[in-house]
Amino acid sequence: MSGIDIETIKNSLDAQLGEISSFQGLEECRVKYLGRKGLLAQLTSSIPTLPAEQRPVFGQQVNALKNKIESALATIEASLVGKAGTASAGPTAVIRSGVDIGLPAVAQGVGHLHPITQVMDEICCLFGRMGFRIVEGPEVETEYNNFTGLNIPLEHPSRDAFDTFYIKNAPKLLLRSHTSPVQVRAMKQAKPPLAVVVPGRVYRPDAVDASHSFMFHQVEGFMVDRGIRLSDLKGVLEFFAKGIFGQEINMRFRPHFFPFTEPSAEVDISCKICKGKGCSVCGRKGWLEILGSGMIHPNVLRNVGYDPDIYTGFAFGMGVERIAMLKYGIDDIRLFYENDMRFLAQF
Ligand code: PHE
Repeated sequence: MSGIDIETIKNSLDAQLGEISSFQGLEECRVKYLGRKGLLAQLTSSIPTLPAEQRPVFGQQVNALKNKIESALATIEASLVGKAGTASAGPTAVIRSGVDIGLPAVAQGVGHLHPITQVMDEICCLFGRMGFRIVEGPEVETEYNNFTGLNIPLEHPSRDAFDTFYIKNAPKLLLRSHTSPVQVRAMKQAKPPLAVVVPGRVYRPDAVDASHSFMFHQVEGFMVDRGIRLSDLKGVLEFFAKGIFGQEINMRFRPHFFPFTEPSAEVDISCKICKGKGCSVCGRKGWLEILGSGMIHPNVLRNVGYDPDIYTGFAFGMGVERIAMLKYGIDDIRLFYENDMRFLAQF
């Protein structure tokens, strides 16, 4: 027989169990008695060396001892768990497996909206506060809605295949090159008064560089009612521009041409960097263009069935990427599309 003596084990057991005061001590005790090479395993392996008539009795004694130790350890573990729980799981609350349940959990990366979506929402929200409602339109449009209905003549260069993606084998369909076709759709569907913003994607066959992309986002807006004037447009746009860029900025209308508005204007804000003095960001002009706008052309109103002698309206359209770039000082449009978390996580 080996040097392990069941009586010696029994005698020292209670004292050993009484000393356990931590999960670590508990685990050590478990290994010592019940482990694969523990004391009880050694007793069991000594059975074949015993005289045959002693074996059953000895086996029963070992089993009884094993059961006793298991239940004693379970009781001690339960009391340790109870203590760890009431001690508000401090950093010493080490569970048997070695897991410290008092440590903060591994932080889960929480996602957020893409900066373009954020800015688009912010723009729509500002107009929402002035009573504009959101209308969306399809990205595959008819040539009529994208051009003809908007008073864009057949010979206009924007109709050229170099400036518009046409759908193969469907000459009257294209990827909309601006959100203005939704003016035609929304006005045909409803009677004035009408105040609408249109967020969405637009497409142009431009070579991709720091300021161009074949796909980008626009927010269109328009209002039609009796007696809508250029001053209404100016007031609405000023509320928007100051809401996005800060109350301290100035805004100006610069005469321009669009076939679907008359008169038309591009809108500039004073450069935030140089405060209007002229710097490299604004090309020494002190002003930054943010959108196109104007009073809706009478022909457009006629095309949707409105009487231009009764109703007038204004419209504007802006590039969301451009607004976001000016707002955050981003100098390359491609950053928005590369899904580089080092860029996106900043917003
Ligand atoms: N659709 C014009 C563009 O994409 C912007 C615009 C909209 C201008 C409405 C005037 C009125 O450039």
